Amino acid sequence: MKTTLLGGLTHTAFLRKHWQKKPLLIRNAIPQFEGLLDKNKLISLSYNEDVQSRLVMSNKKEWQLLNGPFAPRDFKKISGNWTLLVQGINYFLPSAARLLKSFNFIPHARLDDLMVSYAPDGGGVGPHFDSYDVFLLQGFGKRLWQISKQEDRSLVPDAPLRILKKFVPEEEWLLEAGDMLYLPPNYAHNGIAVGESMTYSIGFRALSHQEIVREFLHYLEDHYDLDGIYTDPDLMLTKHPAEISPLMIKKVASVLKKIRFNEKEMSDFLGKYLSEPKQNLYFDAPHAPLTKSQFLQQAKKKGICLDLKSQMLFTKATLYINGEATKFHPESKALLKQLANQREVILNTSDAATRDLLYGWYLDGYLDLMA
Ligand code: SIN
Ligand code: CO
Repeated sequence: MKTTLLGGLTHTAFLRKHWQKKPLLIRNAIPQFEGLLDKNKLISLSYNEDVQSRLVMSNKKEWQLLNGPFAPRDFKKISGNWTLLVQGINYFLPSAARLLKSFNFIPHARLDDLMVSYAPDGGGVGPHFDSYDVFLLQGFGKRLWQISKQEDRSLVPDAPLRILKKFVPEEEWLLEAGDMLYLPPNYAHNGIAVGESMTYSIGFRALSHQEIVREFLHYLEDHYDLDGIYTDPDLMLTKHPAEISPLMIKKVASVLKKIRFNEKEMSDFLGKYLSEPKQNLYFDAPHAPLTKSQFLQQAKKKGICLDLKSQMLFTKATLYINGEATKFHPESKALLKQLANQREVILNTSDAATRDLLYGWYLDGYLDLMA
């Protein structure tokens, strides 16, 4: 199906022609889009210690970066150009989570979050490139985007953020409310606010190989049980007590060579790691929880939805919610898959185990009843 969001392309055509390959400018991707929150609401979110925010300031090519949470006085002493960037807006604003649903044509495991920026006239974070795919959706105001596929990725030395030393724009467009620019990873770009401007960045996470290996090794550490202890009944007298002997190295190597892992462990690692809540995100249990039967009755009538902070993913056999694994039961597989895919579902099962599971998640604050 052709979609306005992608400038008349189908999802399939977008993935084939643009995703991870080349930029796409979409005029009027979301008609009448003016944004989901105003400058003051964005600034007040940056006061919240559970929210990740950054303030980027520049004065005659001198860059400064401050990390939140901020206080009103931080905004009083700003000089020069500035930009406020607030991450994870979708964890706090239902309308932002709804916006992300329009990007359901890309797997949730690749989605990072929605970041919103505010800059007064002339503000921006400087020319740079990101290692992930991003859709830059213009909210309130206008922003000039310059882009370049330049190979030269050298950075300004000693700057607190990654700024390209030499940026040679190849194309530029003035984006107005509702326009959107898709950029693949490593595409140099520079956004300059033209008047007050707010930009919505829908970012997609790309795990570095280093991160995959590091995190998998952590996973193995927690999931590996090996019996036995180092023994050396064959120890020989040595003149060099400080030496780690070749024999000791061989014995340790033979233990390490026992480390084995299979596809099941690798997929379990991925499910747990990718559904792990982000740093600083905590779940609130309901203040006055309903009884199980009240909950089930409401869930059947109105439906349930994942809490904004919940991340639910699945593999063929296993469901992952917020870093925890649950085996699928055949009776409830379709229902739970729908909850994961659409983040909401009507509870139409009489399967007792599934009902218990969902009530447990409700008590944990992982899901809520639909309003
Ligand atoms: C911004 O919104 O100012 C920066 C977004 C980006 O360049 O990735
Ligand atoms: Co960027």
